[in-house]
Amino acid sequence: MKIKYRKRHFKNILIALAFASIAILSCRQKPAQVFTQEIEENIQLDSTVLGVSVITDSLLVPWELVWGPDDYIWVSEERGTLYRVNPETGEKHLVLQLPIGKRPEGLQSFIVHPDQDQYPYVYLHYKKFNEDSVRFNILARFTYQNDTLVDEKILLTDTAGRGHTGSRLAFHGTDRILWATGDQAIKDHPQNLDNINGKILRMDLDGKVPDDNPFPNSLIYALGFRNMQGLTTTPDGVIYISEHGDATEDEVNLIQAGGNYGFPNIEGVVDNELERAFEKEHNTIPPLMAWTPTIAPADIDYYPRKNSQIPEWDHALLLVMLKGQGLRVLNLNDEGNEIIREEIFLEKLYGRIRALCVSPAGDIYISTSNHDWNPMTEPAEKDDRILRIARVDRATKEPLKGKTMEESSQELATGESLYQQYCFSCHKGKGEGLKDIYPPLANSAVVADGQQLIETVKNGRDTEDYDFAMPAFSFLEDDQLNKILNYVRTSFGNKLDSVNVNELKNY
Ligand code: HEC
Repeated sequence: MKIKYRKRHFKNILIALAFASIAILSCRQKPAQVFTQEIEENIQLDSTVLGVSVITDSLLVPWELVWGPDDYIWVSEERGTLYRVNPETGEKHLVLQLPIGKRPEGLQSFIVHPDQDQYPYVYLHYKKFNEDSVRFNILARFTYQNDTLVDEKILLTDTAGRGHTGSRLAFHGTDRILWATGDQAIKDHPQNLDNINGKILRMDLDGKVPDDNPFPNSLIYALGFRNMQGLTTTPDGVIYISEHGDATEDEVNLIQAGGNYGFPNIEGVVDNELERAFEKEHNTIPPLMAWTPTIAPADIDYYPRKNSQIPEWDHALLLVMLKGQGLRVLNLNDEGNEIIREEIFLEKLYGRIRALCVSPAGDIYISTSNHDWNPMTEPAEKDDRILRIARVDRATKEPLKGKTMEESSQELATGESLYQQYCFSCHKGKGEGLKDIYPPLANSAVVADGQQLIETVKNGRDTEDYDFAMPAFSFLEDDQLNKILNYVRTSFGNKLDSVNVNELKNY
C-alpha cells in the first residue's frame, strides 16, 4: 500500500492557530514557585549545574506525570488513583479513585486539557476486566469539578492483550488527542488498518474521527508499532514516540501522518533482506534511533528551544528508562529529524523510571517505578518517588556527570555484563526469575543440557507454561553467546562445564 499525504492548506492554518493558542496559554505570567526540598544529588553539564530533589514519596507505580495548568503535578498510579501534587510542599490531593484490581488491571496514561476554563477535561486510559473476565482497554474522559474527577464518558473500548498494552496520551493542538496503543502482543494488529492496536490514534475532544486525519473515516494516524510507552508533541505539533522492541531494537521515532513504522515486519533499522523488501513495498519510515541491547524506554518529553534553564538540553528529547534505569537526553538537529548527541544521566541511582514531565519554567520531574510487576531492585523505603531535576547556582555535592555512548558500550565486555544487558530484566540478578512468569536459571535442566541451552537462547521458546515468550538471541555474535552461556552455567549455584556454540553449530 502506498501512503498518500493530503495537503490541505486551510486545515494547516487552523492547526497552526491552535498551536499558537497553546503557546499563549502556557506563557501566562505566574509568580515564581518556591521549592523547599533538599538537594540529593548534583549533576554537572557543560556549564549548567543541576540539583535533584525528592518532591514526594510512598507512591505505588506512578504511571504518568502531567504538569497541570494549575501549576500542580498530576500523577496517576497503576492501582487507579490520581493525585494533584503541590510541587512546593509535596502534599497530595486525591482527585480520582477508580475501582481497579490487581495487574493486569491498571490505570496508565492521562492528559489534562491546558485550557480548563473552556474544556475542564481529563482523558485517561485504564485496563479492566469485565464481568466475564475479559480484559479491556478503556479510554475515558472525565470532567474536573470541585477538585475531583466526575462524569465519566467512555470514548473507546477494545479487548486488551496479555501484554504490550502501551500506552501514552498527548494533545495535538488544543482540540485533538493522540493515543499511542500497544499491539496487545498480537502480531497481526500493527499492519491491520481495521484494528486500532499498534497504532497512533488521533481523535477530537469527544473521541470522534476528525476530518483532517490521514486515512478517511479512521482514527489511525500512524501504524506499525509494537509497544509504545512514550509520546510527546512539540509546540509546533511535531510528534515523537518511544517504543519497546523485543529482545532487540528499542526505538525512538519521528511521526508522520499516515506513516508506516514497519512492525512486526521490520524491527529497528532495516538490516536484512526480508526487512528491505517490506520497506520497499510499504515505504516504511526508519526510527530516529534504535537500541540493542534494549533499554526499555518509557515516557518521552520535548525540552523546548531557547529554554534558559538548561541550555545544554535545548531542543532535546528527554527519555526515561525502565530497564536502563535513568534519563537519556537526545539532542536534536535544528530540523528535529536527527539525534546528534546522546547522554545518560542518573543511571541506576533511583531504579526504574517510567514517567516524566517538564514545567513551563523548564524544571524536569521524573517518577520511579520500583514497586511494579517486574522489579529490578529492592524498592527503597520511600519508593515510589517523584524527583525534580532543576538548575541550581552551584553544586553542594560532588557532582555527577552524564555518560556518553562510548563509555556505555565499553561496559559490554564480560559474560556478567552481557547477562546484565540481555537476560537480567527477566531472569534477574541471581538467576531466580519471577514466579510463574520467568523461569529460574538456577538448577534448570535446560541450562544443564548444553544443546538445549544453546537452542533455547538462540531460537527463543514459547511454551504454555509461561505467560510470556523467551525472545530469540540469534543476533548475538558467537563470542558474546559463549560468554553469556558460560556465565549462566557457572553462576547462581550452577557448576557446569563450559559450552561452545561453534561446536554445536547446527543449533
Ligand atoms: C523478555 C524476557 C526474557 C529475556 C530478556 C530472557 N529470557 Fe530466558 N526465558 C524467558 C521466558 C518467558 C522463558 C520461558 C519460556 C517458555 O518456556 O515459554 C525463558 C526461558 C529460558 C530458559 C529455559 C529455562 C528452563 O529451565 O526452562 C533459559 C535457559 C533462558 N531463558 C536463558 C536466557 C538467557 C541466557 C537470556 C539472556 C541472553 C534470556 N533467557 C533472556 C524470558 C526471557
